[in-house]
Amino acid sequence: MEDLGEWYQTIDIDGEPTPGIHGRGDVEKTWDHVKEFLPETLEGIRILDLGCNAGMYCVKSILMGAEEVVGIESQDFCFRQALFVKDYMERKHDRKMNIRYVHGSIEDHVKEMAGFDIVYAFTILYHLPDCVCADIAHNTRIVIARLRKKKDLSKYSRIFSDAGFQVGKCLREEGIKNRHLIQFKKP
Ligand SMILES: C[S@@+](CC[C@H](N)C(=O)[O-])C[C@H]1O[C@@H](n2cnc3c(N)ncnc32)[C@H](O)[C@@H]1O
Repeated sequence: MEDLGEWYQTIDIDGEPTPGIHGRGDVEKTWDHVKEFLPETLEGIRILDLGCNAGMYCVKSILMGAEEVVGIESQDFCFRQALFVKDYMERKHDRKMNIRYVHGSIEDHVKEMAGFDIVYAFTILYHLPDCVCADIAHNTRIVIARLRKKKDLSKYSRIFSDAGFQVGKCLREEGIKNRHLIQFKKP
């Protein structure tokens, strides 16, 4: 695992957590919050995960029944982590997972990526020029964003409202300062 560089997501690999920055249980805790924005099953649903990092939310979505998940990740070591985690999870759950990882930047790929039912934008929007949010908005009906700062709530609510979305449910995550999940949905 050391060859795979620094970890952001904490993922249990054979009982050993990857040394992610928020510690053991972080992904699980966030996923419990994310699930509050999702239907009970993701059967038949296609998901795009922007800045997917080691891909654990892609795996979680497949385990909840998603038909297909595409994760975009620009950093080489994170992309390699995602492939490693997918391979491990496929062996652990003894099944193939319909996850495709795209190694590249969201800016270069988002325009060509259409037809997703839900887009995850977890702690990623602040990495992107605002105009890219409009491209994301163009291609989807539901965006679930995870934001780092309270003031980002009003900033991205404005950007997505301007792009035709209604600002939906918003939830403050327990345990991590200022983390909010928010849903933008086209009427
Ligand atoms: C703060 S991390 C969040 C990771 C993941 N979404 C999560 O919530 O656990 C941001 C991730 O987005 C990736 N990233 C940043 N800018 C990107 C871009 N322009 N295109 C694709 N990936 C990007 C980073 O390499 C990193 O893995």
